[in-house]
Amino acid sequence: MGAHKSIYLILLLNNYIYFFVNGDAFHNNDKACRARRANDSVVCVCTADYCDEITREVPQTGQYFAYTSSQGGLRFSKSTGSLQNSNSDNRTDTILVLDPTIQYQSIQGFGGGVTDTVGINWVALKNETLQHYLINSYFGATGIEYNIIRTPIGGSDFSIRPYTLQDYPENDASLSNFSLAYEDYNYKIPVIKASIALATAPVQIIASCWSPPTWMKHVHNITGTSQLRDKFSQTYADYHLKFLESYARENLTIWALTTTNEPLSGIMSLGKANRLGWTTQKMGRWIANNFGPTIRNSSFSNIKIIAGDDQRFSLILWYNIVIQEVPEADKYIDGLAVHFYFDELSPPEILTKATEDHPDKFILATEASNGVGPTIPAVVLGSWDRAQKYIKDIIEDLNYNVVGWVDWNIALDEQGGPTYINNCIDSPIIVNAQRGEFVKQPMFYALGHFSKFLPRGSRRINVSATYPDSTPLDNVAFLTPRNTIVVVVYNEVDQTRAVRIRLGNQEAFLSIEPQSIATVEFPYSQAS
Ligand SMILES: *[C@@H]1O[C@H](CO)[C@@H](O)[C@H](O)[C@H]1NC(C)=O
Ligand SMILES: *[C@@H]1O[C@H](CO)[C@@H](O)[C@H](O)[C@H]1NC(C)=O
Ligand SMILES: *[C@@H]1O[C@H](CO)[C@@H](O)[C@H](O)[C@H]1NC(C)=O
Ligand SMILES: *[C@@H]1O[C@H](CO)[C@@H](O)[C@H](O)[C@H]1NC(C)=O
Ligand SMILES: *[C@@H]1O[C@H](CO)[C@@H](O)[C@H](O)[C@H]1NC(C)=O
Ligand SMILES: *[C@@H]1O[C@H](CO)[C@@H](O)[C@H](O)[C@H]1NC(C)=O
Ligand SMILES: *[C@@H]1O[C@H](CO)[C@@H](O)[C@H](O)[C@H]1NC(C)=O
Ligand SMILES: *[C@@H]1O[C@H](CO)[C@@H](O)[C@H](O)[C@H]1NC(C)=O
Repeated sequence: MGAHKSIYLILLLNNYIYFFVNGDAFHNNDKACRARRANDSVVCVCTADYCDEITREVPQTGQYFAYTSSQGGLRFSKSTGSLQNSNSDNRTDTILVLDPTIQYQSIQGFGGGVTDTVGINWVALKNETLQHYLINSYFGATGIEYNIIRTPIGGSDFSIRPYTLQDYPENDASLSNFSLAYEDYNYKIPVIKASIALATAPVQIIASCWSPPTWMKHVHNITGTSQLRDKFSQTYADYHLKFLESYARENLTIWALTTTNEPLSGIMSLGKANRLGWTTQKMGRWIANNFGPTIRNSSFSNIKIIAGDDQRFSLILWYNIVIQEVPEADKYIDGLAVHFYFDELSPPEILTKATEDHPDKFILATEASNGVGPTIPAVVLGSWDRAQKYIKDIIEDLNYNVVGWVDWNIALDEQGGPTYINNCIDSPIIVNAQRGEFVKQPMFYALGHFSKFLPRGSRRINVSATYPDSTPLDNVAFLTPRNTIVVVVYNEVDQTRAVRIRLGNQEAFLSIEPQSIATVEFPYSQAS
C-alpha cells in the first residue's frame, strides 16, 4: 500500500541497534516502534522514556486508511487513499467483494489474561511511567484498545505457589475462612484496575477457576486427575459466589464465569497445572442443581455463564453431551468458550455447527498462547511465525462465528514465567525488569490489527473473493458501530499482492506487502 516506510532515526545504545520505523506521520500523537532485530522479525522496545503509540484515524467520505505490520518490520504503518470507481475488471488482482446486507455474529471483544505472573512482572517494572506504558499499550486510546480480561479465581499454573481461596480449614462447607489472596490485592487487582482506568470501552472481566480447594476433590492434590466430591457440589458453587462478592467489594464487576478451566485436562491428567476434572454428566448436574441456581438467585444474576472453556475439538462432544444428559443445565448457559491449543486437530466447521445447534449461545475464544510444550522454546523474541499463528487462527475463528478472541498472559518475563511448575510459554509482551524495559512481540501487533479496529458490536459481513492465481488471501470483514467497514487481510506469501476491496461501485485498491497483515477502514454509505 504505497509502502510509505521511512527509517528516520538510528540509535546505538547498550550495544543494540535501534531503528524507528513507521509510515508517514498522519497523527501528531503517533510514536513509532523503536525496533530491535530479533530472530525473523523485530520487537518494539519500551523504556520509561519511550514507548510506541498508535492512534486510529477517522476516514472521511470517499477515503480509506490502511495500517500494515509485516515480518520486514512495519508496525501499524499508516497509508491513505481515495476510494475509486470499481467498474474496470483486472484479472491479475485479488478481488474481495463485500456484502454488508449479509451479516453474521456481533463482536464481544478482544483481550488477554491477567494472572499472578502478569502482576508480578508488572510490579517488577517498578517505574510508574513504564508500568503505565504497558497497560496503555493494551487498553489505552493510543494502544490496541483491549476490552476483555480473563482472570483466574485463586491460583493457576501462572502463579508462584499452589493455593486456593480457602486452603484451611478443610472440609468446611460454609467456607468460613474464604478470602482473597495476597496475589489478588498486590498483583491481579492493581493490573485490572489500571486497565479499566485507561480503557476506551467497558472492560468485561471473565473469571475461571482452575482448581478448588483440594479438600473439595477426590484426590487431595491441586494438580493431576481428580473430580469434585459430591458432598461439596454446593460448596464449589458457593465458592464462585464468594469470589464475586469479594471482587464486588473491591469495586470490580465480573462479566462472566466459566464452568471451570479445561475440565478434560483434569480427567486425562494433561500437564502439571492446577486442575479439576469433570465428566459430562457430573458437569451437567452441577450446573443444573448447584452452579446455575446459585448464580441466578444471587445479586449477580445477570452474569454470563460460559460452558466448555476447553479445546475446540471437545466443543460439540462435550457440550452436546452435557445437555443431552442433563437438559436442565442448558437454560443457565449463555455461551461456550474454546481454547486455541490443538486447533489444527479439528476443522473450524465444528464452530459453525455449534452455533447452528445452539443459536442462542455465543462462542468466545478464551485462551491462546505460543511456546507451549517441553520440546519448543517458551519465548522466541521477534517471532513472526508465532504472530502468523495468531493471525490465521483469529481470522479463522471470526469467519466461523466466534465473537471474540482472548489471549493468555499479557506479560511474561524473558523465560516465559515465573510459574511455580516451570511450564513457561510466550507472551505478546516480554518484560526485562532488570534492564528497565519491556518489548512488544509481533504477536502484540497481530492482535492489535483486530482489537483496535473492531469495537464491541461490530458485525461480520459477507465477503466473496476472487483469486487470480488461486492463492487464497486470509480475510475477514465487518461493519462497525462507527458506521465504517473494516477489513483485515493477511498476505502470507513472499510476493506483494494487489487487492481490490470492493463495496458496490467503489473500491479501495491496495498493494499488500509480503508476509504482512493489513487492516483497512473506510466509511460505509448505503448509497455506495
Ligand atoms: C531468538 O529466539 C531465541 C529463543 O528461541 C532467543 O533466545 C534469542 O535471544 C532470540 N534472538 C534474538 C536476536 O533476539
Ligand atoms: C491490472 O493491475 C495491475 C496492477 O495490479 C496493473 O499493473 C495492470 O496494468 C492492470 N491491467 C489492466 C488491464 O488494467
Ligand atoms: C521513571 O524513569 C524515568 C526515566 O528514567 C524517570 O525520569 C522517572 O523519574 C521515573 N519515574 C519514577 C516514578 O520513578
Ligand atoms: C484461613 O485460616 C488460617 C488460620 O486462621 C490461615 O492460616 C489461612 O491462611 C486462612 N486462609 C486461607 C485462604 O486458607
Ligand atoms: C500431585 O499430583 C502430581 C501429578 O499427578 C504428582 O506428581 C504429585 O506427586 C502429587 N502430589 C502429591 C502431594 O500427591
Ligand atoms: C469502592 O468505591 C467506593 C465508592 O466510590 C469507595 O468509597 C470505596 O473506597 C471503593 N473501595 C475500594 C476497595 O476501592
Ligand atoms: C433464592 O434465594 C432466596 C433468599 O435469598 C431463598 O429463600 C431461596 O430458597 C433461593 N432459591 C433457590 C432456588 O435457591
Ligand atoms: C457470501 O455470500 C454468498 C452468497 O451471496 C455465499 O455463497 C458465500 O458462501 C458467503 N460467504 C461466506 C464467507 O459466508
